[in-house]
Amino acid sequence: MLNATRLPQIINNILLYLFFTLVLTSCAGGQLGRSTHQEYRQGMVVSASRYASEAGLQILKKGGNAVDAAVAVQFALAVVYPNAGNLGGGGFMVYRSAAGETAALDFREKAAAAATRDMYLDSLQNPVVEKSLFGHLAAGVPGSVAGMEAAHKRYGKLSWKTLLAPAIALAAGGYKLSARGAEELNGQAAGFRQYNLLGTALVKAAGTWKEGDLLVQQELAATLAHIAERGAAGFYDGPVARLIVEEMQRGGGIMTAADLRAYRAVWRTPVTGIYRGLKIITMPPPSSGGIALMQLLQMVEPYPLRRWGFNKDSTIQLMVEAERRVYADRAAHLGDPDFHPVPQHQLLNENYNTQRMAGFTWERSGNSAQIAAGLAAAPEHEETTHFSVVDRNGNAVSITTTLNGSYGSNVVVKGAGFLLNNEMDDFSVKPGSPNMYGLVGGKANAIAPGKRMLSSMTPTVVEKDGKLFMVVGTPGGSTIITSVFQTIVNVVDFDMGMQAAVNARKFHHQWLPDEVYLEKEAIDSLTHRKLTNKGYRLVERGNIGRVDAILRNKWGYYEAGADPRGDDSAAAW
Ligand code: DON
Repeated sequence: MLNATRLPQIINNILLYLFFTLVLTSCAGGQLGRSTHQEYRQGMVVSASRYASEAGLQILKKGGNAVDAAVAVQFALAVVYPNAGNLGGGGFMVYRSAAGETAALDFREKAAAAATRDMYLDSLQNPVVEKSLFGHLAAGVPGSVAGMEAAHKRYGKLSWKTLLAPAIALAAGGYKLSARGAEELNGQAAGFRQYNLLGTALVKAAGTWKEGDLLVQQELAATLAHIAERGAAGFYDGPVARLIVEEMQRGGGIMTAADLRAYRAVWRTPVTGIYRGLKIITMPPPSSGGIALMQLLQMVEPYPLRRWGFNKDSTIQLMVEAERRVYADRAAHLGDPDFHPVPQHQLLNENYNTQRMAGFTWERSGNSAQIAAGLAAAPEHEETTHFSVVDRNGNAVSITTTLNGSYGSNVVVKGAGFLLNNEMDDFSVKPGSPNMYGLVGGKANAIAPGKRMLSSMTPTVVEKDGKLFMVVGTPGGSTIITSVFQTIVNVVDFDMGMQAAVNARKFHHQWLPDEVYLEKEAIDSLTHRKLTNKGYRLVERGNIGRVDAILRNKWGYYEAGADPRGDDSAAAW
């Protein structure tokens, strides 16, 4: 167990307490709620939690840049949004400096060295879903802490400890649960109990969590203090790493001290492309998101979406047919580029994408079985989180980070107080066998030691006339790509403001299953009938995505889009 009293100064002291008070008391000041017409120019943070957005804003106000603020937000989310904020998961960052420099940082989890292609198959070669989704074996080697350190080393201005302080304060001093936060923790209590026989702070000692309860996470505070003191080494080496390995040994996991020590975040070249004159800067493999987003935009660009209108039958039909083709490509071609040659150049070729749309006809729905073969499955609940940050100079950070499923593997590292991911399920556990998002894959995304599992996360920055225009991204598993696609189209083609574009009802198609998912009231009854008559199988489902985005409007002010589908909130000045 980490002992708070033995920890370096930073944890016990006044500094922390000051921060804690500051974060809690100043929430009212910069808090925007869900929409604003105020004129913010100095900086903005939009995230899944008001505490995290406020932590980011405090860093901006101290003179930190967008990357400093983003690091503080990532660590704060690990405390106040345990569903998806994390130390034990991974993610991606897309960055654009005010001067136009771009970068993509990959801190995706990796399979442990002892992982094998068939590790989740039973003796009959059938996938054992519980194993890739829950418990110790489901976890990949976490990447978030290494990612934050790499981002800070390259771009940060303020000291590392300063960026960790708000998160430590929130963990040690506690934060107030929202009604939704309380309900979600209660909903997961059985899972937490099952996978944490030694107990966890996420389960209330007596009774159930209520709105306004203070959630204090001392073990997590101690872990964060180690990271504050020693950087990524405070996580991948030393007492925290030992606790992870002990947790693995107790629960039959395979991650070792060597796996942890070997983990590195990787700088990659962003995927870039043009859509209606705007430059799109987005995430390359091991995310499929950036390539898929660019393919979708290229496929619809020749068509007059603006004339057809938002969520009208032609608009939906065209976008769905593009999605059918792009998700079929995803299944066949996308995987960790360090292990599998992704034909990125070809997939991003405009002629290729125009050709892909050649077989499309307006008369009737396309048929996924004729686009390519595969199996089908229903999508499941999803939990990841996205946040967007801009500073007063116009530097922009777009980060999507995840444990994969809600609360990841459900395993909280005993003594260290953080949840481990269940990202191993993002691998193609068996060729053609759907994962929790109904996504299928094959060799490109098969499990191998040290390999990164394919992702859909699509943190994106958009540039207009050489200047920052939009920062956008979302959770939602397989729906991430189509949600980012629709949000961009809503702004660019349908002239929506940032909040309206985020609020707008969404639809989703992913090749397999051959169905189109719709949020409630996404389309009118006439559009519904027209599409059904053409053979589209329309299925109403719950919320799609949880987009947190920022737009720099034509007057140079920042406009927030904080998704009302969650507790998301913007903070700005
Ligand atoms: O990387 C991926 O694509 C998934 N692990 C993301 C999961 C997710 O978005 C869950 N979200 N709500």
